[in-house]
Amino acid sequence: MFSEKRNMWQTLILIAFGFGFCHGNSCSIDDSERIDCYPETVPFVQENCEKRGCCYKPYEGENADNIPWCYYPSDYPSYQLSQLKQTSQGFSGKLMQMSSTHQRIENEINELDLGLYLETPTRLRIKISDPHNSRYEVPIETPAVKNATTDPTLYSVFFQSSQFGITLKRQSSGNVIFNSSAGPLIYADQFLQLSTFLPSKNIYGLGERHEQALVSTNWKRIVFWNRDQGPDSNANLYGSHPFYMCIEEDGNAHGVFLLNSNAMEAELQPAPALTWRTIGGILDFYVFLGPTPEAVIEQYTMVVGRPVMPPYWSLGFHLCRWGYETSNHTWDIVSKMRAAKIPQDVQWNDIDYMTSKRDFTYDKANFDTLPQMVNDLHNNGQHYVMIIDPGVSNQEATGTYPPYDDGLAMSIFIQDSTGTKPIEGRVWPGKTVFPDFTHPHSGAYWQKQLQSYHDQVPFDGVWIDMNEPSNFADGSTAGCHGNSTLDNPPYVPDVTGAKLSARTLCVDSKQYAGVHYNLHSLYGMLEMKATSEALVNIRGQRSFVISRSTFPSAGKYGGHWNGDILSTWEDLQQSIVSVINFNLFGIPLIGADICGFTKNTNEELCIRWMQLGAFYPFMRNHNDILMRPQAPIDFSTDAQNYMRDVLSMRYMLLPHLYTLFYAASVNGTTVARGLFSEFPTDKTALIVDQQFMWGQGLLISPVLQKGANSVHAYFPNGLWYECMDFGTTIDSSGSWFDVNAPINQTVVHFRGGFVVPGQYPAVNTQKSRMNPLILFVAPDRSGNAAGSLYWDDGISLDSAKESNFLLATFRYSQNTLTSEVAATFKESVKLGTVFLFNVKTKPRDVTLNGVSLQFRMIENNALDIELSVDVNKPFVIKVLP
Ligand code: NOJ
Repeated sequence: MFSEKRNMWQTLILIAFGFGFCHGNSCSIDDSERIDCYPETVPFVQENCEKRGCCYKPYEGENADNIPWCYYPSDYPSYQLSQLKQTSQGFSGKLMQMSSTHQRIENEINELDLGLYLETPTRLRIKISDPHNSRYEVPIETPAVKNATTDPTLYSVFFQSSQFGITLKRQSSGNVIFNSSAGPLIYADQFLQLSTFLPSKNIYGLGERHEQALVSTNWKRIVFWNRDQGPDSNANLYGSHPFYMCIEEDGNAHGVFLLNSNAMEAELQPAPALTWRTIGGILDFYVFLGPTPEAVIEQYTMVVGRPVMPPYWSLGFHLCRWGYETSNHTWDIVSKMRAAKIPQDVQWNDIDYMTSKRDFTYDKANFDTLPQMVNDLHNNGQHYVMIIDPGVSNQEATGTYPPYDDGLAMSIFIQDSTGTKPIEGRVWPGKTVFPDFTHPHSGAYWQKQLQSYHDQVPFDGVWIDMNEPSNFADGSTAGCHGNSTLDNPPYVPDVTGAKLSARTLCVDSKQYAGVHYNLHSLYGMLEMKATSEALVNIRGQRSFVISRSTFPSAGKYGGHWNGDILSTWEDLQQSIVSVINFNLFGIPLIGADICGFTKNTNEELCIRWMQLGAFYPFMRNHNDILMRPQAPIDFSTDAQNYMRDVLSMRYMLLPHLYTLFYAASVNGTTVARGLFSEFPTDKTALIVDQQFMWGQGLLISPVLQKGANSVHAYFPNGLWYECMDFGTTIDSSGSWFDVNAPINQTVVHFRGGFVVPGQYPAVNTQKSRMNPLILFVAPDRSGNAAGSLYWDDGISLDSAKESNFLLATFRYSQNTLTSEVAATFKESVKLGTVFLFNVKTKPRDVTLNGVSLQFRMIENNALDIELSVDVNKPFVIKVLP
């Protein structure tokens, strides 16, 4: 069957021609392994189940509601694999459907193409498509790989032919990481399903979700269909990310991505197993072999795109609310923040600024001073961001509102099912139409509108909301009455609102690239792309876009906030999971509305939220209309002091955050991460999601309970040095500690073994960037530490291309701190202080390149070394005991 090249693959591909699923015969299947044959949420009787050729067995035990009573027998006819042959990219084969007399889902496809692409030693792609009719494929750019890798791979692949199955093993451990024999492959026009056994229950990702970080495998169904939906654990939310990372029992990690944008479900069960069920497109899986959790994300973002490098200013503090009544009201808040010397980089406006809530307009009566306010922000080194919604009003007189007139002239709007007129929905301005961001001219259209608004109000970034897209009229103002197979597919995933068109457009509406049925969940991501590209063209600098709706590859264009959360302690806690998850999704610029969005916040909650929010990669305080004011200046002097303190702490650590964003943009690593990413062999770290890290070197353990004065926090094996209280050390063998955390304190620790760069803070980043840098040197138990610093002008698009950046690595060992400079920046980058922890006795001398320096011991065995050196040049600091 193989050509002479086969030898090359011998270690790679072993073909097993087995029969049947690997579990027992027919209906005798372990309860935990039952694959649901009746996933519809409507009640059914035994007869309906058996008509499908499935096994019916009521289950009365615990979890009775969730364990399927109707499940596939092990010999359920599926597909047979034949004609397996080697190709330049890997292997291909034919899948022929096995005959069946049962009532099955309509329009099954009898013959399928199987493509196995051995793209890199750590990545493979499995594509199952229809050879006779071209089917929708997600139009995102993924790497084009012409030839299969010739390097040894971390995986081996096994096929099962007579009842098609594919199994992937990790070569080093033999761990089975993907095994599709958990259930039959079903491939119909509007119902595609594949089940896999999982090697462990340590599953992360699969979002957007409002739950614990570890995905439940207790009969949990996660639905993917972008929806304007306040975070809720039982609903499909604003974004879809059909990607998970699994940490195997031995700590190796792998990832699986289903590249499909149709309405979809992932159902997890205790076997453990996962069933993917989608209602369109093709089955197109990418598998990433890691083996570390960070390597999995690097490999995933290699496929969906590396995160965008944000401007430095966007890492400062952002302040927003819905309900600033005028531009002067907004400006007044900025002035009060300045007067209180509370750091702030960016002021925002919500839809209040618009004339009758129409995009690209501003209310000349109430927001008359908006352009002056924006100039004033710029004159103070601050920036301005405003909201834009995709719904464009179609109610204005012809010739008076270019966003509508231009869109009509360019045929840019999504059409209804007849394809003859724009589909009309209802959003904030009333009746609206929706730009089709798959249209080849949509970028030009969008840029023109942004440019003409920018000519009036020189904004610096754009906040894009309501882009699921949200539509207050389900379907359209005229309902939906089009193509019934799209409107009424044979199977509807368990979407909130029960219909695909609930709170969005009719799914048979027409876009340039196809039907909304396929393209719906891409809407926000494509709007991000258009907005980001327009911003780059208009401002000639890095773009800043924050979007509510996302899809894989959104991180290339901007960041995300996790929508309309509540001002509650629960949502404060929950927000950490969204920070961790969006980093896994390649969208590290993520944060929640600090102090909570809806419901009234209170002073204690808001202080604690500012303390946690100071460690969101994207830090914005935002508030719902009519809720009590919650800017820092709206609280007591004490509260303002505590908020200022933690903001200063963030500003002090921004060089570390910025360096992490640089690493994310070039390597795809995460910025904020769960403990499981750093300590995958530590079973406790796998479940901790109330603490998180910035990169490898900083652990954040926020207070998340009302009235608490301490944090019960987990410290993985190692030394941990308290950040506020320089150097108080926790020496942990992997245990829980109670750390003192009165209301004025935020618990953050440097991790032994790391050098973290910082900078003396100021009231905004324009000013802080002029201050000297700091290095926090936190040795491990052997007295070693390492870390790096990336630095550039903070805004240029081409810093990396033009090699106009500083990249320095610092290593501490044997009482000596050395720097290595891989790239230099055109301006001097001054280092002013080194804090060295775990110094037991006062040294005799400390020298910089052989010359004595000023130094002093401070409390907790820390050494404060004062110097002035340009980090562009390598240096050596010796501590002489
Ligand atoms: C919904 C958004 O999620 C929220 O942040 C915003 O304030 C309102 N829309 C009003 O624009």
